[in-house]
Amino acid sequence: MEKIQEALAKARVARADAQPAPARSEPQAMLEAMQASPEMAVDTAWLALSSLSPDADLLKKSRVLTLTGGQDAAPFDVMRTKVLQTMRANKWRRLAITSPTAACGKSTITLNLGFSLSRQPDIRTIVAELDLRRPSLARTLGQKPARTCAEVLQGQADFAEAALCFNHNLAFALADSAVRNPAELLHGTGIPAILADIEARYAPDLMIFDMPPMLVSDDAMAFAGQVDCVLLVAEAEATTVKEIDTCERELATQTNVMGVVLNKCRFMGKEYGYSYYG
Ligand SMILES: Nc1ncnc2c1ncn2[C@@H]1O[C@H](COP(=O)(O)OP(=O)(O)O)[C@@H](O)[C@H]1O
Ligand SMILES: [Mg+2]
Repeated sequence: MEKIQEALAKARVARADAQPAPARSEPQAMLEAMQASPEMAVDTAWLALSSLSPDADLLKKSRVLTLTGGQDAAPFDVMRTKVLQTMRANKWRRLAITSPTAACGKSTITLNLGFSLSRQPDIRTIVAELDLRRPSLARTLGQKPARTCAEVLQGQADFAEAALCFNHNLAFALADSAVRNPAELLHGTGIPAILADIEARYAPDLMIFDMPPMLVSDDAMAFAGQVDCVLLVAEAEATTVKEIDTCERELATQTNVMGVVLNKCRFMGKEYGYSYYG
């Protein structure tokens, strides 16, 4: 009998040695990290985001060419450097990308700029879909978001529930269908606090907002006051100087116009012509 008890006691000790320490719950681990240092809390918050593995071929078909470096990515890498330099020099963190009319290439440029930035490991970027009448980023990325950017901006979902993250430094808040009242939504009184909260928790170097066109609705202007600066995308042979001028004047009442990007320019010598006027 004693022998059996001895054997049982030994087995218990062996089991206890073999068992790993009980796992800390995720909130407890995050709390400990936050107490350790704010930088660590930010790292933890990024690591906790759902990940996104984009299909390079699908992106290429949509002219998103910056997933890897090289000749095709080079014009966007130049744009990235100019945007980063200007934003750093002015302590700007929020960039909107808009255009006078639809289909000038805003979303294409947003994604190219986003993936180009993701290749700089020390830079964190958040890209938000704000063309809430005609969202396209989710489709181009081949994603169906669980929660949308619109829900985040209305306080109905947390950024962490909506975000899809590439490379641990590029997070997307997407939309999969149009909303009914974009201008009212983008003018929401809760938005400044929601954006400030996202910045406090994720410390992005840049937030890029893929905006609606300016001359079609007042959606873009409803949000213009929330951003530090704007890139205006013009379509070669389609956008007129008068349209650019109208948009620049209107935007200047609310924010800083960083520059005009001339897109789809056949005379640039490359298939994907981009030219940037700071
Ligand atoms: N430089 C370019 N050359 C040729 N086609 C382009 C170029 N940039 C964008 N496009 C195409 O033009 C269409 C509209 O682009 P998109 O980025 O969705 O515009 P927006 O977001 O301004 O509405 C897409 O089919 C896109 O692939
Ligand atoms: Mg678009």
